[in-house]
Amino acid sequence: MDYLEIEGSKKLNGTITVSGAKNAALPLLTCTLLGKTSVHIDNVPNVADVKTLLQLLENLGAKQSFENNQVTINTSDVNSTCANYDIVRKMRASILTLGPLLARFGHCEVSLPGGCAIGQRPIDLHLKALEQMGALIEIRQGYVIAKAPKSLNGANIVFDKITVTGSENIIMAAALANGITTLSNVAKEPEVVQLCKVLNKGGAIIKGIGTDELEIQGSGGKLLELNDITVIPDRIEAGTYLCAGAITNSDITLKNVASEHLKAVISKLTCMGYKIEKDKNSISIKSSSKILPIDIKTVEYPGFPTDMQAQFMALCTQANGTSVIDERLFENRFMHVSELLRMGADIRLSSHTATVYGPTKLTGADVMATDLRASSALVLAALAAKGKTKIHRIYHLDRGYENLEGKLSMLGASIKRLSE
Ligand code: EPZ
Repeated sequence: MDYLEIEGSKKLNGTITVSGAKNAALPLLTCTLLGKTSVHIDNVPNVADVKTLLQLLENLGAKQSFENNQVTINTSDVNSTCANYDIVRKMRASILTLGPLLARFGHCEVSLPGGCAIGQRPIDLHLKALEQMGALIEIRQGYVIAKAPKSLNGANIVFDKITVTGSENIIMAAALANGITTLSNVAKEPEVVQLCKVLNKGGAIIKGIGTDELEIQGSGGKLLELNDITVIPDRIEAGTYLCAGAITNSDITLKNVASEHLKAVISKLTCMGYKIEKDKNSISIKSSSKILPIDIKTVEYPGFPTDMQAQFMALCTQANGTSVIDERLFENRFMHVSELLRMGADIRLSSHTATVYGPTKLTGADVMATDLRASSALVLAALAAKGKTKIHRIYHLDRGYENLEGKLSMLGASIKRLSE
């Protein structure tokens, strides 16, 4: 198994390019099940989750190719509707095949994704909404068996909680349903917005895009004419690299960034004393004379993203004072704390709140990655730490960060990928 070896306490400098957003690419790949022709998708990040989902779509009968961050996929020959356990367990976002498969074929069998390190990750809201659209849902031997014998019908759906992939699944299902579906309390993340825009460009009729209320006029089963797509920049990858600049108190620039998707992150960095300069599609962070503590509460977009919580916790270990981080979305998203403590951080946990006392001198250690964003927090801590850090189980990182060691090396970090 691979591990990363990082020699810390080095200033960073220079410019890197941010990749396409993993969490936008995944629903864009499954929405091709709603298209009648071959679709070309550009700026697709070369990460494990994307490769896993492409494998799943190919197992269903799709024809796909993926090179140089470009995907060409044609689902017209899809002849299976079973997303099986051995793939879904590797990548829980495979649940994004549920809505499109059911809408297109009238039935499908999708393995329950199961929980993961950060929480139980239920899909009850996905299933409840599909039932409101007329689907018959049964859970059997770890699979969701979904049937819509008389196809799906428009419904007025109010999500009890804001769910990103739940919203995406139902938007895709509603695009092919009979009649009008209204969605209330729907997710507004940029990745959901791009999915809606792509579907509209393909002939869907979705109103209210970017708000928490959508009205979707279904095509009555008629497939869409999806065409060329360019995945939006990854706001979480960008935020992670801004934190890399911040935690080493360096001046770095990111290109291919949508700064309007990073308002909450930029606001927090500014409050911590960093200077942020924004261009049309680039952002620069300048070192701060004094890193200030910060209070963070994770909420749905456009609030502070839960996917940036771990990275900011690492950063707060260097702030001059006490920071309080409140994780409101997931019940177990503090797996990085114990590893940060091993590097010398001073963090106290109580229920869903972490109190970070800073500044603390971090020292290199052997640490274990547990989930995607926790792993990136350990990389950030290692960049600031004195001495050498080895981060094990970095397959977690490879799920969502394209060429992380290459990008950090370009900024002057001393980082190597080695094998155990
Ligand atoms: C998406 O996960 C992202 N993944 C996650 O990013 C992200 O952390 C999360 O949204 C929140 O922003 C992808 O887009 C592929 P949710 P998702 O459904 O859709 C509860 C990363 O690091 N809930 O919005 O699975 C749920 O338990 C990943 O890139 C239900 O109760 O998250 C959670 O408390 C990690 N029932 C809250 O809603 C449901 O049916 C938000 O979950 C669905 C969700």
